[in-house]
Amino acid sequence: MKEKLLQEISSVKDMAMADIASVSDVSSAESCRVKYLGKRGLVTAILKSMKDVSSDERPIIGREVNVLKAMLEEKLGSLSTDLKKSRLERSIEKDKLDITLPGRALPAGRIHPLRSVFCEIVSIFTGLGFSVFEGPEIETDYYNFEALNVSEDHPARDMHDTFYVDDGRLLRTHTSPVQIHVMESRKPPIAGVFPGAVYRRDNDVSHSPMFYQVEGLMVDKNITMGDLKGVLSTFCHCMFGVGAGVRLRPSFFPFTEPSAEIDIRCVICSGKGCRVCKQTGWLEILGCGMVDPAVFEKVKLDPDEYSGFAFGMGVERIAMLKYMINDIRLFYENDMRFLEQF
Ligand code: PHE
Repeated sequence: MKEKLLQEISSVKDMAMADIASVSDVSSAESCRVKYLGKRGLVTAILKSMKDVSSDERPIIGREVNVLKAMLEEKLGSLSTDLKKSRLERSIEKDKLDITLPGRALPAGRIHPLRSVFCEIVSIFTGLGFSVFEGPEIETDYYNFEALNVSEDHPARDMHDTFYVDDGRLLRTHTSPVQIHVMESRKPPIAGVFPGAVYRRDNDVSHSPMFYQVEGLMVDKNITMGDLKGVLSTFCHCMFGVGAGVRLRPSFFPFTEPSAEIDIRCVICSGKGCRVCKQTGWLEILGCGMVDPAVFEKVKLDPDEYSGFAFGMGVERIAMLKYMINDIRLFYENDMRFLEQF
């Protein structure tokens, strides 16, 4: 028994030394440990068989096995520590992290150029004391036309290529109907702006079937054309710079009398004449006029007591002039190359 066990201890030792010599990484070191020192390992098996050894032989064999066990534990332990250390060193070398590199910026959203011009227009007027009012985009014929002095057979209806929806209602062709809602629901003094989407059957480089307007209205006793000129030239100067030339040119709208259009000096050629201003040196930017007495009568305000002015402008047109954009469709196509310029 004793001879046989001593023989076995010695051969396990030889085998273990050969195995340890061929260990090259952390996982083979671990399988080697399991092979000899694990629960069903070869050294463990010898230790288990000790119970069959006679008590006088046991100390001799016991010492031999324990020496082998301690030696294997020591060798495998330090081997695996070394292997782990070099594995860590290799991965530090390989996955080098440069903490001085600048971070990668996440792409951030931004305000659409049309929305920013829209807000800029509105805030110029709120800065002058105007309040903001909104109204429905689906209107009745009465609010879009009739109450604004555009009767059924009025030729001005042809200028508004209207989209009709069911039961005679329509998509508003301008935000002027909000004037009527506001004058019906509150007494003067009134100073309001009406921003929002409007719709016309039009589609080319300078027209879109849906576009944005900001209209406005001021009504009180003794409002004159001088107030109109003062407010709207202040607006033009805020929007296009204090040096912007501004002029009023006689025009016609059914709901204002007298009516005018406001032009600014051409932002492209500074008035010399170019393709954009059709050689006139001026660019039309908004329509305006004194509220027609017929409109006051529709909303039951006495035209002898009250007077007022109204105006309206297309937001796309203002934005196109401000940023010198020559195709309205760029605003709606969501092309990042365009949008990222603002
Ligand atoms: N509603 C007119 C349009 O859409 C603009 C306008 C508003 C003109 C108020 C005069 C007064 O063309």
